[in-house]
Amino acid sequence: MSKTSKAIKTSKSSQSSKKLKIGLIGAGGIVRGAHLKPGWLAVPDCEIVAVCDVNRATAQKLADDFQIPHVFTDYRDLVALEEIDAVDICTPNCVHTPAVLAAFQAGKHVLCEKPLAVTTKEILAMQAASKKAGKLLMTAQHCRFSDIAQAIKAWVDTGALGEVYHTRVNATRRNHLPTSPGFIDPKLSGGGPCMDIGVHALDTAMWLMDFPRPVRVSGRALTNFAKGHELPGAWGEWDRTLFGVEDFASGYVHFENGATLALEASWLQHQEKEDWNAVLLGKKASVKWPTGEFYTAVNRSLIDGRILPKPGVQPAHTEEIVAFADAIRNNKPSPVPVEQTLRVIAILEGIMKSSATNKEIVLPKL
Ligand SMILES: NC(=O)c1ccc[n+]([C@@H]2O[C@H](COP(=O)([O-])OP(=O)(O)OC[C@H]3O[C@@H](n4cnc5c(N)ncnc54)[C@H](O)[C@@H]3O)[C@@H](O)[C@H]2O)c1
Repeated sequence: MSKTSKAIKTSKSSQSSKKLKIGLIGAGGIVRGAHLKPGWLAVPDCEIVAVCDVNRATAQKLADDFQIPHVFTDYRDLVALEEIDAVDICTPNCVHTPAVLAAFQAGKHVLCEKPLAVTTKEILAMQAASKKAGKLLMTAQHCRFSDIAQAIKAWVDTGALGEVYHTRVNATRRNHLPTSPGFIDPKLSGGGPCMDIGVHALDTAMWLMDFPRPVRVSGRALTNFAKGHELPGAWGEWDRTLFGVEDFASGYVHFENGATLALEASWLQHQEKEDWNAVLLGKKASVKWPTGEFYTAVNRSLIDGRILPKPGVQPAHTEEIVAFADAIRNNKPSPVPVEQTLRVIAILEGIMKSSATNKEIVLPKL
């Protein structure tokens, strides 16, 4: 552990006089690129008091750049720091569960990056630990917090779609494969594009659908291109010997209310460009995220329209972090509750199980 100068202080005022003290676990890309700045720096009366990364130089660099006083290489030391109110976990997926459990054991609130975990068993353990500790657990599903997602949700919540009978979800890339071991080594990531980006689009679609209970799932996960050299990676080369996850997955879901959902996720496939969307088909109208396009008919006249982004909304990661801080300060429920994440991960886990067994998977009542 080393000490540098004083903690980050934000300038805006807040309802509460007590500063919220945060520990960061994992100091890589997403922390630097979104969570810390503008993320945490936009939260009124908040201090980042500690950072932990197994790579000390990475943690120290972040601490030096943002004046974070405590630096650790073991998250158990960070969560033991009494002054910390909440932790923000941004490690490779395999570290999420042990770090979340350690944080609750130490009595901290938790914001954790997606996928919260790659199995429902782990999420149930986190849910129990959160309840026992009486502390918040929020999954960092930032897509819900964007200006356009907020505007679409507000419109959908008026009942504009009528009964939603089917949803199409796409998180497909042509040749953007994340090259770091944290994504392609199954021991670290627990899955490929399905868990990495499928989780974003599926969470957003499920949220727009108001989280119906999934009952049956079938799916297929394939490695079509990532072991070879046919497709060039736009983010550079990756270690073919380490690559052990799928590069494409598809799934089909039945919900208790009779609705269905089809999901596709890929890092590599032959298509024009990235296709990142969800289309909700309702009996009164359909809507597409993230474009906000909607289609309907009134008195046999066909109508096309577009929902505009909600004004005044900050970048999605910032809104997500502001919502987490607000929930802690004002005793509000988790902005992304674990019960919802449980249903999302049950579907993704079901796709993988279905692919491995070549059978449809009946999900437990979640
Ligand atoms: N919401 C989003 O838009 C988004 C985008 C990218 C990544 N992510 C998620 O964020 C997480 C991190 O991704 P990233 O892109 O920042 O990865 P990264 O590889 O850039 O950073 C991860 C950091 O965690 C550190 N680390 C590894 N094991 C650790 C441990 N036991 N304790 C402390 N630190 C440890 C690594 O040394 C590394 O610095 C992943 O779960 C990923 O799915 C989310």
